[in-house]
Amino acid sequence: MQSKPTIAIDGPAGAGKSTVAKAVARNLKIDYLDTGAMYRAVTVVALQKSYDLHDEQSLANLIKNLDIEVKSSEKEETRIIVNGEDVTPFIRTAEINEHVSFIAKFPSVRKALVRLQRVLGEKGGIVMDGRDIGTRVLPDATFKFFLTASLPERARRRYLEMFPKNRDLSLEKVKKEIARRDNIDKNRKTDPLRVSKDSCIIDTTDMSIDEVIEFIVKKIVGTGEGS
Ligand code: CDP
Repeated sequence: MQSKPTIAIDGPAGAGKSTVAKAVARNLKIDYLDTGAMYRAVTVVALQKSYDLHDEQSLANLIKNLDIEVKSSEKEETRIIVNGEDVTPFIRTAEINEHVSFIAKFPSVRKALVRLQRVLGEKGGIVMDGRDIGTRVLPDATFKFFLTASLPERARRRYLEMFPKNRDLSLEKVKKEIARRDNIDKNRKTDPLRVSKDSCIIDTTDMSIDEVIEFIVKKIVGTGEGS
Protein backbone atom coordinates (compact mmCIF):
# COMPACT_ATOMS: atom_id res chain seq x y z
CA MET A 1 0.00 0.00 0.00
CA GLN A 2 1.33 3.46 -0.92
CA SER A 3 2.13 5.67 2.04
CA LYS A 4 0.11 8.58 0.70
CA PRO A 5 -3.34 8.22 -0.88
CA THR A 6 -4.29 8.59 -4.51
CA ILE A 7 -7.65 10.26 -4.95
CA ALA A 8 -9.70 10.15 -8.15
CA ILE A 9 -12.38 12.78 -8.74
CA ASP A 10 -14.43 12.36 -11.90
CA GLY A 11 -17.60 13.93 -13.19
CA PRO A 12 -19.23 16.03 -15.92
CA ALA A 13 -18.37 19.62 -16.84
CA GLY A 14 -19.09 22.25 -14.21
CA ALA A 15 -19.62 19.82 -11.33
CA GLY A 16 -16.96 21.67 -9.30
CA LYS A 17 -14.25 19.01 -9.64
CA SER A 18 -11.28 21.35 -10.02
CA THR A 19 -12.19 23.65 -7.13
CA VAL A 20 -12.92 20.70 -4.87
CA ALA A 21 -9.87 18.68 -5.94
CA LYS A 22 -7.55 21.65 -5.41
CA ALA A 23 -8.94 22.30 -1.92
CA VAL A 24 -8.78 18.62 -0.93
CA ALA A 25 -5.13 18.49 -2.08
CA ARG A 26 -4.27 21.60 -0.08
CA ASN A 27 -6.03 20.20 2.95
CA LEU A 28 -4.20 16.88 2.81
CA LYS A 29 -0.90 18.50 1.71
CA ILE A 30 -0.64 16.39 -1.41
CA ASP A 31 -0.39 17.24 -5.14
CA TYR A 32 -3.23 18.18 -7.42
CA LEU A 33 -3.37 17.29 -11.11
CA ASP A 34 -6.03 18.67 -13.43
CA THR A 35 -6.01 16.13 -16.28
CA GLY A 36 -8.48 18.20 -18.32
CA ALA A 37 -5.74 20.85 -18.56
CA MET A 38 -3.63 18.32 -20.50
CA TYR A 39 -6.35 17.64 -23.10
CA ARG A 40 -6.92 21.38 -23.33
CA ALA A 41 -3.19 22.06 -23.84
CA VAL A 42 -2.97 19.59 -26.74
CA THR A 43 -6.03 21.30 -28.26
CA VAL A 44 -4.32 24.72 -27.97
CA VAL A 45 -1.25 23.45 -29.81
CA ALA A 46 -3.24 21.60 -32.49
CA LEU A 47 -5.22 24.78 -33.22
CA GLN A 48 -2.09 26.97 -33.17
CA LYS A 49 -0.54 24.68 -35.76
CA SER A 50 -3.78 24.45 -37.80
CA TYR A 51 -4.15 20.69 -37.48
CA ASP A 52 -7.32 19.00 -38.68
CA LEU A 53 -8.98 18.10 -35.37
CA HIS A 54 -10.87 15.23 -36.96
CA ASP A 55 -7.76 13.51 -38.31
CA GLU A 56 -6.58 11.10 -35.63
CA GLN A 57 -3.44 10.03 -37.47
CA SER A 58 -2.04 13.52 -37.79
CA LEU A 59 -2.93 14.31 -34.16
CA ALA A 60 -1.15 11.12 -33.10
CA ASN A 61 1.94 12.31 -34.98
CA LEU A 62 1.66 15.72 -33.39
CA ILE A 63 1.47 14.33 -29.88
CA LYS A 64 4.44 12.03 -30.50
CA ASN A 65 6.56 15.10 -31.18
CA LEU A 66 5.37 17.16 -28.26
CA ASP A 67 7.35 17.54 -25.11
CA ILE A 68 4.62 17.89 -22.49
CA GLU A 69 5.71 18.98 -19.06
CA VAL A 70 3.13 19.03 -16.29
CA LYS A 71 3.63 21.09 -13.16
CA SER A 72 1.23 19.91 -10.53
CA SER A 73 1.33 21.22 -7.01
CA GLU A 74 -0.86 21.57 -3.96
CA LYS A 75 -0.71 25.36 -4.16
CA GLU A 76 -1.78 26.43 -7.63
CA GLU A 77 -3.52 25.36 -10.78
CA THR A 78 -1.87 22.68 -12.93
CA ARG A 79 0.46 24.30 -15.46
CA ILE A 80 1.15 22.66 -18.80
CA ILE A 81 4.36 23.48 -20.68
CA VAL A 82 4.42 22.25 -24.27
CA ASN A 83 7.75 22.33 -26.11
CA GLY A 84 8.96 24.90 -23.62
CA GLU A 85 5.91 27.19 -23.87
CA ASP A 86 3.54 27.58 -20.90
CA VAL A 87 0.16 27.27 -22.64
CA THR A 88 -1.86 27.40 -19.40
CA PRO A 89 -3.14 30.96 -20.03
CA PHE A 90 -4.81 29.80 -23.28
CA ILE A 91 -6.56 26.61 -22.21
CA ARG A 92 -9.84 27.95 -20.82
CA THR A 93 -11.25 29.91 -23.73
CA ALA A 94 -14.57 29.37 -25.50
CA GLU A 95 -12.63 28.13 -28.55
CA ILE A 96 -10.90 25.40 -26.55
CA ASN A 97 -14.19 24.44 -24.86
CA GLU A 98 -15.65 24.01 -28.30
CA HIS A 99 -12.94 21.67 -29.61
CA VAL A 100 -11.38 19.80 -26.71
CA SER A 101 -13.82 16.89 -26.61
CA PHE A 102 -13.16 16.04 -30.26
CA ILE A 103 -9.47 15.60 -29.56
CA ALA A 104 -10.15 13.73 -26.30
CA LYS A 105 -12.13 11.09 -28.24
CA PHE A 106 -9.09 9.69 -29.98
CA PRO A 107 -7.49 6.55 -28.46
CA SER A 108 -3.96 7.56 -29.49
CA VAL A 109 -4.31 10.97 -27.81
CA ARG A 110 -5.74 9.38 -24.66
CA LYS A 111 -3.05 6.71 -24.56
CA ALA A 112 -0.25 9.29 -24.59
CA LEU A 113 -1.83 11.48 -21.91
CA VAL A 114 -2.93 8.60 -19.67
CA ARG A 115 0.65 7.31 -19.72
CA LEU A 116 1.90 10.68 -18.44
CA GLN A 117 -0.85 10.86 -15.83
CA ARG A 118 0.03 7.43 -14.50
CA VAL A 119 3.67 8.38 -14.14
CA LEU A 120 2.58 11.40 -12.10
CA GLY A 121 0.32 9.21 -9.96
CA GLU A 122 2.80 6.40 -9.40
CA LYS A 123 4.23 7.60 -6.11
CA GLY A 124 0.84 8.34 -4.54
CA GLY A 125 0.05 11.55 -2.70
CA ILE A 126 -2.05 13.06 -5.47
CA VAL A 127 -5.59 14.16 -6.22
CA MET A 128 -6.46 13.90 -9.92
CA ASP A 129 -9.62 15.18 -11.51
CA GLY A 130 -11.01 14.27 -14.92
CA ARG A 131 -13.40 11.89 -16.65
CA ASP A 132 -11.62 8.50 -16.55
CA ILE A 133 -9.43 8.72 -13.46
CA GLY A 134 -11.26 6.06 -11.45
CA THR A 135 -11.95 3.86 -14.45
CA ARG A 136 -8.68 4.06 -16.41
CA VAL A 137 -5.90 6.26 -15.06
CA LEU A 138 -5.92 5.14 -11.42
CA PRO A 139 -8.19 2.07 -11.23
CA ASP A 140 -6.60 1.22 -7.85
CA ALA A 141 -6.98 4.71 -6.39
CA THR A 142 -7.28 4.76 -2.60
CA PHE A 143 -10.45 6.86 -2.89
CA LYS A 144 -12.77 7.50 -5.82
CA PHE A 145 -15.42 10.20 -5.98
CA PHE A 146 -17.86 11.05 -8.74
CA LEU A 147 -19.16 14.61 -8.50
CA THR A 148 -22.31 15.55 -10.28
CA ALA A 149 -25.07 18.19 -10.18
CA SER A 150 -28.11 19.03 -12.27
CA LEU A 151 -27.40 20.59 -15.67
CA PRO A 152 -28.98 23.98 -14.76
CA GLU A 153 -26.87 24.15 -11.59
CA ARG A 154 -23.66 23.20 -13.39
CA ALA A 155 -24.41 25.80 -16.07
CA ARG A 156 -25.09 28.45 -13.41
CA ARG A 157 -21.75 27.76 -11.70
CA ARG A 158 -19.78 27.79 -14.96
CA TYR A 159 -21.54 31.00 -16.05
CA LEU A 160 -20.63 32.78 -12.80
CA GLU A 161 -17.03 31.61 -13.21
CA MET A 162 -16.67 32.72 -16.83
CA PHE A 163 -18.80 35.87 -16.95
CA PRO A 164 -16.21 38.30 -15.48
CA LYS A 165 -13.86 37.42 -18.36
CA ASN A 166 -16.48 37.13 -21.08
CA ARG A 167 -19.39 39.49 -20.76
CA ASP A 168 -21.01 38.33 -24.03
CA LEU A 169 -21.79 35.01 -22.45
CA SER A 170 -25.36 33.98 -21.72
CA LEU A 171 -26.48 31.33 -19.25
CA GLU A 172 -28.31 29.52 -22.06
CA LYS A 173 -25.15 29.42 -24.20
CA VAL A 174 -23.12 27.95 -21.32
CA LYS A 175 -25.81 25.34 -20.66
CA LYS A 176 -25.80 24.24 -24.29
CA GLU A 177 -22.00 24.12 -24.41
CA ILE A 178 -21.58 21.89 -21.37
CA ALA A 179 -24.46 19.61 -22.41
CA ARG A 180 -22.86 19.19 -25.83
CA ARG A 181 -19.45 18.40 -24.33
CA ASP A 182 -20.93 15.94 -21.77
CA ASN A 183 -22.70 14.19 -24.59
CA ILE A 184 -19.47 13.67 -26.54
CA ASP A 185 -17.56 12.65 -23.39
CA LYS A 186 -20.22 10.11 -22.36
CA ASN A 187 -20.63 8.55 -25.78
CA ARG A 188 -17.08 8.19 -26.99
CA LYS A 189 -15.79 4.64 -27.38
CA THR A 190 -12.55 4.97 -25.45
CA ASP A 191 -12.85 5.56 -21.72
CA PRO A 192 -16.08 7.51 -21.74
CA LEU A 193 -17.27 9.53 -18.78
CA ARG A 194 -18.99 7.05 -16.51
CA VAL A 195 -19.28 6.22 -12.83
CA SER A 196 -16.69 3.71 -11.68
CA LYS A 197 -18.55 1.03 -9.73
CA ASP A 198 -16.46 1.56 -6.61
CA SER A 199 -16.74 5.34 -6.49
CA CYS A 200 -18.67 7.46 -4.02
CA ILE A 201 -21.24 9.50 -5.95
CA ILE A 202 -21.86 13.00 -4.62
CA ASP A 203 -24.76 14.98 -6.04
CA THR A 204 -23.68 18.53 -5.29
CA THR A 205 -26.77 20.29 -6.68
CA ASP A 206 -27.86 21.51 -3.26
CA MET A 207 -24.47 21.62 -1.59
CA SER A 208 -22.01 24.49 -1.28
CA ILE A 209 -18.44 23.90 -2.46
CA ASP A 210 -17.28 24.01 1.18
CA GLU A 211 -19.75 21.29 2.12
CA VAL A 212 -18.46 19.06 -0.67
CA ILE A 213 -14.83 19.63 0.37
CA GLU A 214 -15.65 18.89 4.00
CA PHE A 215 -17.54 15.73 3.06
CA ILE A 216 -14.63 14.38 1.00
CA VAL A 217 -11.90 15.31 3.49
CA LYS A 218 -13.88 13.71 6.35
CA LYS A 219 -14.31 10.54 4.37
CA ILE A 220 -10.59 10.33 3.67
CA VAL A 221 -9.30 11.37 7.06
CA GLY A 222 -11.94 9.29 8.84
CA THR A 223 -10.49 6.10 7.39
CA GLY A 224 -7.01 6.90 8.65
CA GLU A 225 -5.57 6.58 5.14
CA GLY A 226 -5.43 10.30 4.46
CA SER A 227 -2.02 10.93 5.96
O1 CDP B 1 -13.48 21.96 -16.30
P1 CDP B 1 -14.37 21.06 -17.12
O2 CDP B 1 -15.00 19.98 -16.32
O3 CDP B 1 -15.34 21.80 -17.97
O4 CDP B 1 -13.44 20.36 -18.20
P2 CDP B 1 -11.98 19.75 -18.05
O5 CDP B 1 -11.87 18.87 -16.84
O6 CDP B 1 -10.99 20.85 -18.18
O7 CDP B 1 -11.92 18.78 -19.33
C1 CDP B 1 -12.04 19.31 -20.64
C2 CDP B 1 -12.33 18.17 -21.58
O8 CDP B 1 -11.21 17.30 -21.62
C3 CDP B 1 -13.51 17.28 -21.21
O9 CDP B 1 -14.74 17.78 -21.69
C4 CDP B 1 -13.12 15.96 -21.89
O10 CDP B 1 -13.45 15.98 -23.25
C5 CDP B 1 -11.60 15.96 -21.78
N1 CDP B 1 -11.10 15.14 -20.65
C6 CDP B 1 -11.04 13.78 -20.81
O11 CDP B 1 -11.49 13.26 -21.82
N2 CDP B 1 -10.49 12.99 -19.85
C7 CDP B 1 -10.01 13.54 -18.73
N3 CDP B 1 -9.44 12.76 -17.81
C8 CDP B 1 -10.09 14.92 -18.52
C9 CDP B 1 -10.65 15.72 -19.49
